[in-house]
Amino acid sequence: MTERSVLETPLTIGRMTARGRLFKSATSETRASTDGYVTDELLQFYEPIIEANTPMIVTGNLFVSAQGKSAGRQAGIDADDKIPGLRDWTALTRGRDVKLVAQLNHGGRQIGTPAAGVDRIVSASDVREPMLGTKPSPLRSDEIPMVVESFAAAAERAREAGFHGVQIHAAHGYLLNQFLTPHTNRRTDTYGGSLENRARLLLEVLTSVRSRLGDDYPILIKLNGTDDLPFRAGATTEELLRVAMWLQDEGADAIEISRGHYESWPSTIQGRYKGFFRASLTVGSGRDMPSARKAVGRAVGPILEYVAERLRPPVEGFNLPYAQLFTHALDIPVICVGGFHTRRGMEAAIDSGKTDAVAAARAMIANPHLYRTVLQETSDTPICGYCNSCIARHGGMPIDCYSDEIRYTRDQMLGRYRRESIAPPNVGNQ
Ligand SMILES: Cc1cc2nc3c(=O)[nH]c(=O)nc-3n(C[C@H](O)[C@H](O)[C@H](O)COP(=O)(O)O)c2cc1C
Ligand code: SF4
Repeated sequence: MTERSVLETPLTIGRMTARGRLFKSATSETRASTDGYVTDELLQFYEPIIEANTPMIVTGNLFVSAQGKSAGRQAGIDADDKIPGLRDWTALTRGRDVKLVAQLNHGGRQIGTPAAGVDRIVSASDVREPMLGTKPSPLRSDEIPMVVESFAAAAERAREAGFHGVQIHAAHGYLLNQFLTPHTNRRTDTYGGSLENRARLLLEVLTSVRSRLGDDYPILIKLNGTDDLPFRAGATTEELLRVAMWLQDEGADAIEISRGHYESWPSTIQGRYKGFFRASLTVGSGRDMPSARKAVGRAVGPILEYVAERLRPPVEGFNLPYAQLFTHALDIPVICVGGFHTRRGMEAAIDSGKTDAVAAARAMIANPHLYRTVLQETSDTPICGYCNSCIARHGGMPIDCYSDEIRYTRDQMLGRYRRESIAPPNVGNQ
């Protein structure tokens, strides 16, 4: 028997209790139908993560409106006729103490190819997105209530479909982050300028979602600890801390700390980058770009990859310095994501008091049984190499680990588990 781990200690998030402190962070799946309906292929990705009794699982970002759909085969929560498919998703947790949280998002200017019928990419201001080349048009002030309503309606659908909570995505340079960040928000109305104004949209979204769902329903927020936009006017950590305190005052139940915009992509996914641009431009979100843009991407990509590898190498807990500041400033739980994959690293992060819980994205793509195997200290488990092949293919190919060796180890491990029933269904829930 291994010693009881802090990762098995329950964490209360609003009125919900997660029975452990290692969560799955959001990973956009590229496994829905082209118009965003849940498919068997999407459910299959989640089955082993649920089977491992992962205490809380955040879905990939779900678009709240067609205008906010950011990637190919992204799942949506923008219409009532999607609820039955979403219910199939939440049904996977039936009989298990696993919390499934729907991440709600509007892509803003970070949209490669707009969804069918969408003729306009919007943002806070008309600042071009350099990775994708999109030039958005500013949301008119009379359009903003519709954006707020799309989040509130999506949150209601999430509850109706049986999700245990929602997470509002205000990180990674998507629409709500675009409003927070001075570089992308050059507005002169009540949604731009001062921090209070730049945070207005996010706070209106939270207030609206809260009033629609009532006090009992868990609402989490994903927020950057830093925008990491050198030489551009990113939101500062000090500003983001103030925003987090306002979110707490307005009824947010937990904050997950991440970082970066698409413009500062290595920041979000610290790791290795060799071949990132080639893969993205051939089979990922970049495959539909105009050929001249692709040619530029292929030419400068290797240089950017080389620089990124030196500046943002894989480090376990790479967002902890930021999470620590939020943990000290807030009373609500803080979750830190970024590079977590070892029991020691995760336990040390929580034991140090720098975060209340940890979340993993890539390590759980490589090893969907991460929660179980970390607790049981199982050997022969797949370990993510942070090569970023999965995210490079995002938007074009289904989410998966694209390292043959790691995938082989994973399939062997899952096969062994199922054959031998190594663990009873409630392992980690003693
Ligand atoms: C394939 C892939 C898809 C992702 N999709 C999302 C997403 O939909 N929403 C989100 O907030 N973050 C998304 N992320 C970022 C992760 O949630 C996480 O913040 C980041 O990968 C750092 O965590 P890690 O080091 O554990 O991977 C994605 C990451 C990967 C690798
Ligand atoms: S492709 Fe596999 S090894 Fe590479 S980052 Fe993704 S999950 Fe990790």
